[in-house]
Amino acid sequence: MELPFAESYKIKVVEPIRKSTREQRLAWIKEAKYNLFNLRSEHVFIDLLTDSGTGAMSHFQWAEMMLGDESYAGASSYYKMKDAISELLGFDYFLPTHQGRAAENVLFSVLVKEGNIVPGNSHFDTTKGHIEFRKASALDCTIDEAFDIHNPHPFKGNVDLNKLEAALQKDGDRIPFIIITVTCNTSGGQPVSMQNLRDISNLAKKYNKITVFDSARFAENAYFIKTREAGYENKSIREIVKEMFSYADAMTMSAKKDAIVNMGGFIAMRDQQLFRDATVFNIIFEGYITYGGMSGRDMNALAAGLYENTEFEVLETRIEQVAYLGKRLTEFGIEVQQPYGGHAIFVDAKSFLPHVAKEQFIAQTLAVELYIESGVRGVEIGTLLADRDPITRENRYPELEMVRLAIPRRTYTNNHMDVVAIALKNVWDRRDSIRTGYSLLYEAPIMRHFTVELQKI
Ligand code: F0G
Repeated sequence: MELPFAESYKIKVVEPIRKSTREQRLAWIKEAKYNLFNLRSEHVFIDLLTDSGTGAMSHFQWAEMMLGDESYAGASSYYKMKDAISELLGFDYFLPTHQGRAAENVLFSVLVKEGNIVPGNSHFDTTKGHIEFRKASALDCTIDEAFDIHNPHPFKGNVDLNKLEAALQKDGDRIPFIIITVTCNTSGGQPVSMQNLRDISNLAKKYNKITVFDSARFAENAYFIKTREAGYENKSIREIVKEMFSYADAMTMSAKKDAIVNMGGFIAMRDQQLFRDATVFNIIFEGYITYGGMSGRDMNALAAGLYENTEFEVLETRIEQVAYLGKRLTEFGIEVQQPYGGHAIFVDAKSFLPHVAKEQFIAQTLAVELYIESGVRGVEIGTLLADRDPITRENRYPELEMVRLAIPRRTYTNNHMDVVAIALKNVWDRRDSIRTGYSLLYEAPIMRHFTVELQKI
């Protein structure tokens, strides 16, 4: 018999998690104003809020923590990070930042001006936030297939080149750069093909624009290229990663994802002038250029994480677990974004709760129900996240209302995935009784989903 799939690690350190009763959870979520971000983590049993900063570091990474050099300037930890970025990603210049949105803040302070348009594939919310905060706009040029959850397109993070070229022709003078998110979180952890990256880069060159990668899950993207794109099956993940970044002029990175650290990030680029311009903002916002908001020990762990997570087996273990949850939900008849993403399963809330009006936050309603059912915390990727239009202040109703179940790296077992799947099935079985959602009590002017307060209708 063929041996079954199993994790490519064993467990050395464990952390207890707590179960609770339905009555307790009802009280806690009410107190949290039906915002899952407001819950105390000890009131959560299985936490799939995010895969960001929630992974388990390896014993190599913990060993590196002890070797951190905490010198203000020129620390050996900075050089470990620099070497890893240069060797694995191919960039000569880099600036550490405390996390991904800080990298966006620094780079966009140089590149984004009022009135600009930044095209790309479904921008992540902090990316969009940093663009809109500068009175510029994000233009989504993702392929239409991405918005049909049943379409099995293997690269639903791809950019529609016709949409992109139309934007470059019409508004070229307002476009400072093109940003490509690998994998594309917003469309469901969906990858971008190498062919598409190559084509985008060629198009950008034709219009004299630079290409920036938002690289939080670049290694997962490389895994999908290896397993889905013809011509890459025999290449190593590191070879694929190198080629991917050869199509980028600069990158931002939230290292909390694919470098498997709890905190950290960076910007990398080829151009010395861009590096010098960004340095000014890095020093103002983050810290001196050889630590930029990170401790030496964290830079060490980050460098080790980049090497580890560009190993095929590490990525295979992770992505197979995500697919395991996806398969279980699909077996129950629950509709999720297909193919399964790299870091998360995105559950289609509109088909799950057809009786809830879109003005009452369908995906949020489902995420709250899942928590009440089981203590599993997911996150809304729907109308709350889509926020209001910055000009008209009208709610933006996205095509897809999703609950994202993001799986931390190396943290939970497939038994936990079974609990998540069965909890959601229990909600599925009583879905017809869920007819109303929530209304707003408080919302912040931008990125409201983090702090929103809701009341039951
Ligand atoms: N880009 C992408 C694609 C992301 O997914 C994130 C964060 C960021 C940038 C910002 O990075 O959090 O380090 O400041 N995503 C997390 C998530 C928060 O839950 O998907 P950060």
